[in-house]
Amino acid sequence: MPLLQLEGISKKFGQVVVAKEISFQLEAGDAVGIVGPNGAGKTSLFAMISGDIKPDAGHVFFEGHELSHLSAARRARAGIGRTYQVPRPFEHMTVFENTLLAAQQGARARGQKAYNLAYGSLERTGLGDYANDAAGSLTLLRRKRLELARALATTPRIVLLDEIAGGLTDLEVNELTTIIRGLRGEGIAVVWIEHVVRALTNTVDRLLCLAGGAVVADGDPHTVLSSDEVRAVYLGGKTLNPLEQ
Ligand SMILES: Nc1ncnc2c1ncn2[C@@H]1O[C@H](COP(=O)(O)OP(=O)(O)OP(=O)(O)O)[C@@H](O)[C@H]1O
Ligand SMILES: [Mg+2]
Repeated sequence: MPLLQLEGISKKFGQVVVAKEISFQLEAGDAVGIVGPNGAGKTSLFAMISGDIKPDAGHVFFEGHELSHLSAARRARAGIGRTYQVPRPFEHMTVFENTLLAAQQGARARGQKAYNLAYGSLERTGLGDYANDAAGSLTLLRRKRLELARALATTPRIVLLDEIAGGLTDLEVNELTTIIRGLRGEGIAVVWIEHVVRALTNTVDRLLCLAGGAVVADGDPHTVLSSDEVRAVYLGGKTLNPLEQ
């Protein structure tokens, strides 16, 4: 049974098509990248998996269960973790309190177990030294890390990462890809939307390209990035050097 399966997901906002019969599936420990031009429907796809918006048609199955009637909170408890493209921590709470809340709400952990999950996720994402700072005082890059830490504190079976590598130095990109490869090693599936293509090619073994809400390519990263269709819709016809963004 696949870990996550999408079947014929379609969605329009008014006249704007954000998803057009999207179907794919993945297994535990898989790592899939998603690329595509601005407005392609990438974030909307995550929102339909995590339960923030409802598709007009189609189904999402997680571990064989249909999710349509489950709230976003129930989906998080079932093991679907996500980060938001625009980080949204509780600004007045500390960094630690933000992850503690994620452990309590998303993993239903209490007491020492919740503490360990919260602190462990901060250590893992390199935020241990900022545990007692107000989340609102973090730089954008650290807020993105906090998004990842909050997702990990929920003990996910899958994490949906929405543009967490933008603006990072090469060293920071390497740190991030090491963290993400570690998740795969634990059997956590990763779906990663990213414009920083070199971060993806270092991490995933499958790439989807979305354009106009449709999957225009799905396969191994180098084949997808060099396909004429992907170059036309995403790269403006240029040849992509995977070491560049
Ligand atoms: N809640 C909403 N109501 C109306 N239109 C929306 C809503 N959310 C997204 N859209 C529109 O749907 C389209 C797809 O948006 P989405 O955020 O999914 O794109 P994206 O691929 O994530 O783009 P980006 O690379 O810029 O993050 C855009 O035209 C956007 O303006
Ligand atoms: Mg987006």
